[in-house]
Order: sequence, then C-alpha cells, then structure tokens
Amino acid sequence: MQGRERGQWASRFGFLMAAAGSAIGLGNIWRFPYLAGENGGSAFILIYIFFVIILGISLMLTEFTIGRRAKSSAVGAYKSVNKSWTFAGFLGVLTAFLIMGYYPVVGGWSLAYIFKSVSGLLSAPDSIGGAFESFAYGTWEPLLFVLLFMAANIVVVVKGVVGGIEKAAKILMPLLFGLLFVLIIKGLTLEGAQAGLDFLFKPNFVDALNGKVVLTAMGQAFLSLSLGMGAMITYGSYLDKDADMPSNAAMVSALDTMVALMAGLAIFPALFAFGFEPKAGPGLVFIVVPTIFANMGVIGPVLSVLFFTALFVAALTSTVSLLEVVSAYLIDEHGVSRQTAVVSLSVVMTIFCAISSLSLGGTVPALPLFNVPMFDFLDLLTDKVFLASGGVLVSVFAGWFIKREDLERELSNDGRKPFALFNVWYFLVKYLIPVFVTVVAISGMMAIKEKSVLIAGIVIILGLGVFSKKL
Ligand code: TRP
Repeated sequence: MQGRERGQWASRFGFLMAAAGSAIGLGNIWRFPYLAGENGGSAFILIYIFFVIILGISLMLTEFTIGRRAKSSAVGAYKSVNKSWTFAGFLGVLTAFLIMGYYPVVGGWSLAYIFKSVSGLLSAPDSIGGAFESFAYGTWEPLLFVLLFMAANIVVVVKGVVGGIEKAAKILMPLLFGLLFVLIIKGLTLEGAQAGLDFLFKPNFVDALNGKVVLTAMGQAFLSLSLGMGAMITYGSYLDKDADMPSNAAMVSALDTMVALMAGLAIFPALFAFGFEPKAGPGLVFIVVPTIFANMGVIGPVLSVLFFTALFVAALTSTVSLLEVVSAYLIDEHGVSRQTAVVSLSVVMTIFCAISSLSLGGTVPALPLFNVPMFDFLDLLTDKVFLASGGVLVSVFAGWFIKREDLERELSNDGRKPFALFNVWYFLVKYLIPVFVTVVAISGMMAIKEKSVLIAGIVIILGLGVFSKKL
C-alpha cells in the first residue's frame, strides 16, 4: 500500500453478502445437489456439513485473519510475514487469474439462457440438448455473451470495494435467495416431487461411509467456500478492526451451505416429477433444467428466466471476487490505479475466455502439449492442482509460520473481543487441516487422467517458489 486509502466494507451485512457471493457459485448449483444425490443423500449432506464446520469455517477464518492482519492483497499478506512465502500469494493470484480464463464462459451461457428462455428455446423440448451444443460449441454467440458478462464484472469491480462490490452484493444476493425460494415452492408443489426429496435426502450411510465419498465431501466443502486462492484473504483485508471474524466465517459458510441445499430443492423435486435422470455439470443446468421448464406450460419460460438469472447472479458475484483478487494485487503491490488494473486485466481475461470458449467446439484446437481443450486445461489445473495446493499452503503458513500470539491478537481484535474457541481453532489449523487438505489434494491430483497437466501445475508451483524469492 503506497499511502492510498484502502477500501473497507461499509457494513457487516455488505461484507457477508460479498463473501457469500464469492462462495456461492456454480459449485453450489450444478455440483452440490448432484453429489449429494449420488453419494448417499442426507448421509452425504451430514458428512459435508461436518467438513464445512471442521475444515471450512476454520480455514475461512484463517484467510480472513491473514488478510485483515496484513491489510493487503494475497501477495502482500504472505510477503509481510515471511518473504519466502511470497510465492504462495502469487499462486493465489495466478489461480484467480486462470479461473477467470474459463469460468466467465459459463457466466456468459447463463446470461444467454436468460434471453433464450423467452425466445423459443423452450418451445421445442426435444431439441434442447442439441440447441445447447450448437450454442456452446459455436463461435460468435458465446463470445458475445462472454463479453457482456465480463463487462458486468468491470462495471462492478471498477467502482471499488464499497461502491461496487458491496453495493452489488447487497442487491444481488438477496435477489438470488428470493429467486431460489420461488423455484423451490414451485418444484415442491408438483405432483411426484417426493422422489426428488428422496434422491436428495434419503440417508444411505452404507454408501456414504467410504473413503471416496468422504473425500468428495471434503473437496466440495473446500471448493464451495472459495478457499485456497486468496479470495477470502483479499475480502478479509477490507474488514475493519472491530469486525467479529469468527461469527462472519460461520455465517458465510452457513449461507453457502444453505444455498447448496436450496439449489437441490429447486432442481430435484421438479426433475423427478417430470421423470428425468439427474446429472452433474452443464448437462444438468443447461439441458435438463430447461427441458423441465419446457414441460411446464405457460409458466415455464418465466421460471426459466428466474432460474438462469439466479445462475447468472451466482456466477457474477463469484467472478467479481476473482477479478478483485488479481486487481488488488496490482493496486496494492504495484500502485496501479483501480481503473487501469480492472480494465486491463479484464481485457486479458476476456481473451483467455474467448480461446477457452472456442476450444470447446474445436474451433481452437486442443493444446498441443496436453491434448485437452484450453477450457478443460484451465479447469483441471486450477481446480485439481492449484486450489488444493493453495489450501495446504495457507493452513501450513498460518499454523507454522505466523506466531501464535499474533494470530490470537488479530483474531480477538487486540484482546477486545476474546475468541473462546481459539485453542480449538489453532489446533485444527496447525495439525488437522494440513493433513486433511493434503489428503484431498493428493487424491484429487491422482485422479487427473491427463498427467501432463498435473506435471505442468507442479512445475509452475515450483517455478513460482524459485522466482518469487528473487523479488
Ligand atoms: N466457490 C465457487 C463455487 O461454488 C467456486 C470457486 C472456488 C470460487 N474458488 C473460488 C469462486 C474463488 C470465486 C473465487 O462455484
């Protein structure tokens, strides 16, 4: 920080909405409900909640603490404690940057589907699958929407922490909750909705209590809460010195979990009522969901607009936090103005997104060295390698490289607000979480079929380690 006034959240509500906005994203809507159904229903949900409490809240609290203590971007936060750790901050910023090279493509799709919901897509229920492929694998249409989606990000982030991110989140997040609520009511009142509730909630501990399911729950908790890449460090750095961080971390995690469950309730009862098969990912939200709406008659297009607006909002508030992570780095570490940082980064990110989008339909060929489309490459690299490594790094850093007294002072607001569970939290962060996250990280990495992507990721992390020491 070179003497410039740093932003600071204007209200607790605003901060909670912004941080929940970062956490609540595609992971809640297109991944969680499906994972729950596939992995033992409410038994999975209980295991998931266990990890949110043990691992998620603690790690989020760790990130808030590191951020507020340093009052700087992820890079500055690590650097201010220990220069050799600067690379971990860089890794976070790089991860955010690369996620912004493909996640907005999906944001663009959801924006497009708001319009498509009322322009004829639903009038031919049988061709919705084909329509999705010819749209997403096409050239100009997805590019146009990615451009619009990125423009929305610029408009929000350029206005800064309070006037942009906080203000947008205060409007958009309640809107998202409201939209999901309407969809839930509609879904639950359909005949045959019970089968969806059974799919989602029927406890099956026999299936759920095995290593793979437990790891899936742990990995999902981690991804869903936007941990491991400096997003919560950056948002935490804008907290004021009296903020109650433990209760904030608990609240954000609770909101994230609530929306994951709401998404399940909005989708599955209706899905089963119409006799469809549950799926995960783009096939669920861009094919199965519109097909359900197409079968609902006149109200279908209206509900479809609500659903894709919800998806758009969820994606936007997440990408806003990613753009902020990278922008904050340029602003805090290099004295770049917010406007220059946000606009120039967005231009580069949009170019990456264009390549990712075109790589899906083969207009841009698969990456030579890795033999996967750019879109998949960035997804694998960030989700499976960088986020997990970032999670291990942040907990080891907090547990072993920041002094216990310093953490305690920061967490208790200089002793003004003692944190009763400090010892428990510290134990978790120092011993348990590094082990947990390492296990998730390694199992995720082993599961990557494209070993060259894994090798590239490891080389990049090692490269950052060597290179950032010289800075
Ligand atoms: N939490 C987001 C989701 O559920 C995905 C995500 C992971 C993310 N890390 C992030 C979003 C960092 C924003 C910032 O979809």
